[in-house]
Amino acid sequence: MQQKNVPTGIGLGLRSRLMKAIERGEADGEIAFLEISPENHMHRGGSSPARFLKLADRFPIITHSLAMSLGGTGPFDAGYMGEMKRFLDRFGGAWHSDHLCFCGADGRALHDLLPIPFTKVCAQRVADRIREVQDRLGRPMLIENISYYQALGHSEMDEATFVAEVLERADCGLLLDVNNVYVNAKNHDFDPYAWLKTIPLHRVRQLHVAGHERWDETMLIDTHGAEVLPEVQDMMSWVIERIGPTPVLLERDRHIPPLAEMLREVRALDAVYQAAVARHAANRAQA
Ligand SMILES: [Fe+2]
Repeated sequence: MQQKNVPTGIGLGLRSRLMKAIERGEADGEIAFLEISPENHMHRGGSSPARFLKLADRFPIITHSLAMSLGGTGPFDAGYMGEMKRFLDRFGGAWHSDHLCFCGADGRALHDLLPIPFTKVCAQRVADRIREVQDRLGRPMLIENISYYQALGHSEMDEATFVAEVLERADCGLLLDVNNVYVNAKNHDFDPYAWLKTIPLHRVRQLHVAGHERWDETMLIDTHGAEVLPEVQDMMSWVIERIGPTPVLLERDRHIPPLAEMLREVRALDAVYQAAVARHAANRAQA
């Protein structure tokens, strides 16, 4: 499944809190790639473009956006898409990704990643929009499975079947967030491994892992504000053993510790990752 010119191993998301330490070289040789959100860099003036260019020289860049609203109903914002294409033509890699959700209505941004009804009609509509985005950006898209707290409308199928349906209809790749699967599994009471066995694993091009926090006895919240749970690491390992070397992003958006602490978690994750890669290689050798 590994593609040419695609980094593999554990990467970090570029966050302003970590930027100076990364610029000082403290992450050199420690991370496989940086994942960045183009929205944070597209309209920036001052020293920001030059600083970003230096980082892009140092690390492979994987792009991941937040505001496309692939599951929305209105037309895509032409200005946003044009600016995105210019950015990706300059800095983008083998693909671009965004979420399987809607995040705006009637031309207004909702600043949240909201679920789409799990129906065949919606799967087809989203798949058509993903194909349109791929055409407009001139590159393959990955879609990321989100965490959600309430299914919207009447569901004709479960989430995993819906994700699989969209992937097949759009013929696109999956950015598999195993923490989102875990959080959803706990909140909606299903087996996360049954979920993983339902989706087409051969379409997984990238993984996200993150930590979450407990809201109360019945609900987990996907805050990206804590270390990755062993159970979520196990899910990453299960997937990597089956698909082989793949870029895995450690996401952290709240309670971001100093870079040295993040790198300790990167190394711990990398040990789990490398063991899974070794099992993958051994399985292939036996086959
Ligand atoms: Fe994610």
